[in-house]
Amino acid sequence: MDTIQAGQAGAGLAADRRNVPAYPDMQSNSARLYDRAVKVLPGGNSRHTVFFPPYPVYAVRGAGSRVWDADGVERTDFINNYSSLIHGHNHPAIVGAVVRQAKTLLSVSLPTEAEIRLAELVTERLPCVEQVRFCNSGSEGVLFAIKAARAYTGRSKIAMIEGAYHGSSETAVVSTGPGPDAWGDAANPNAVNGPGNGDSVTRDVVVLPLNDVENARRIIRAHAADLAGVVIDAMPSAIGFLPVAADFLTMIREELDACGGLLVFDEVYSLRLGFNGAQGALGVRVDITALGKIIGGGLPIGAVGGPAHIMSALFDPREAGGARLAHGGTFNANPMTMAAGAAAMELFDRAAFDRVSALGDRLRAGFTEALKISGKPGRVTGTASLCRLGHSDAPLASYRDLYQIRQDGKTPARTENFFRHMLNRGVLIGAPGLFILSTAMTEADIDATIEKALEGLRLI
Ligand SMILES: Cc1ncc(COP(=O)(O)O)c(C=O)c1O
Repeated sequence: MDTIQAGQAGAGLAADRRNVPAYPDMQSNSARLYDRAVKVLPGGNSRHTVFFPPYPVYAVRGAGSRVWDADGVERTDFINNYSSLIHGHNHPAIVGAVVRQAKTLLSVSLPTEAEIRLAELVTERLPCVEQVRFCNSGSEGVLFAIKAARAYTGRSKIAMIEGAYHGSSETAVVSTGPGPDAWGDAANPNAVNGPGNGDSVTRDVVVLPLNDVENARRIIRAHAADLAGVVIDAMPSAIGFLPVAADFLTMIREELDACGGLLVFDEVYSLRLGFNGAQGALGVRVDITALGKIIGGGLPIGAVGGPAHIMSALFDPREAGGARLAHGGTFNANPMTMAAGAAAMELFDRAAFDRVSALGDRLRAGFTEALKISGKPGRVTGTASLCRLGHSDAPLASYRDLYQIRQDGKTPARTENFFRHMLNRGVLIGAPGLFILSTAMTEADIDATIEKALEGLRLI
């Protein structure tokens, strides 16, 4: 069955009552919308991550754990807008807050109380965030976290893990997807520039091998005098949700303390890893935190936060000489996002966190069992409400391992076939095998998904 071609898996299951017509169907409403889209949008849309060939299904409506497409097909949504919909679609409390806000004030060039409320919720939640500033995307949150590290230390170099994704700013895209022709020695990775960047960007980026304590320590020390900070995502999604090891994190904290650089935690995704974020779960002292996704309740958001002495020194216009870092933004802290975010974060209390994390445990255990039953190669990773089912059991300890796995033609074909199978069985997942849960899900949703995954594993 490994030779099955992409697109075949799942086609025979079109009789699923919720899934007529089967994907792909070039006569479907989604296919027609895509035809229209490619004329006015390069590739058909404004976001590469929502495209899959031959056409993406178009969304029309969502409710709780479900999303309906332009052909009326209902699916359980395991993408949840790449993690931002922690409560699934259209939670009544969030919709209520947004509607109330919309009737009162859409946007304005004055601060609002809604901004204070969300800032209170975020700072109560995150142990290393006493003050926060809002922006409109996680990319912008990371961008400002990097600027903050540079401005606070007066140094220019930023270190990042090879292959980790931190959004689309110039510094952040360095070495997110390098190939063997450019990546250099594994113990000493090159900083590989992102297309569209100026040549000078890589001069200020230092690339670290994930969880390689001794080599990363040596690299950090070599740049210590110029190092503004190290950016860490505790469980990078682009490296298959591989966790950053405790001894690696301890080494980075020690080295930064020794050289005076700052630890920047990218919690855009990893806020889901603990009730108090990844920083709370790991018990690590973080200097600057970048945020996004779930704190916006489903509307566009980003944020940068940290201890008051750092945040005030950089952003407070009352400081002598004014704010060191200019931070405007027409839609920063816009009242609609603030209202949605505050409603979502109020709902995401400890009980909600524990429940959705337990659903994640149930899903991971079910997938592990399904792999065993099917006899197919694979691996289940993730923590709390984030899960990935990969279709290879080759060693995976770094971005380079994942890159090599993807070179073996069988794994990408299995991954594509599995995605297609799930789509045709009413389950929308992230194409690389990502399952991102919401509090709207039930144990029955999880069990049904495990069943469908087992079917899929048997087919691919
Ligand atoms: C870890 C991490 N940082 C930053 C970003 C960028 O966030 P946004 O897509 O809101 O710009 C993402 C997006 O997926 C992310 O996963």
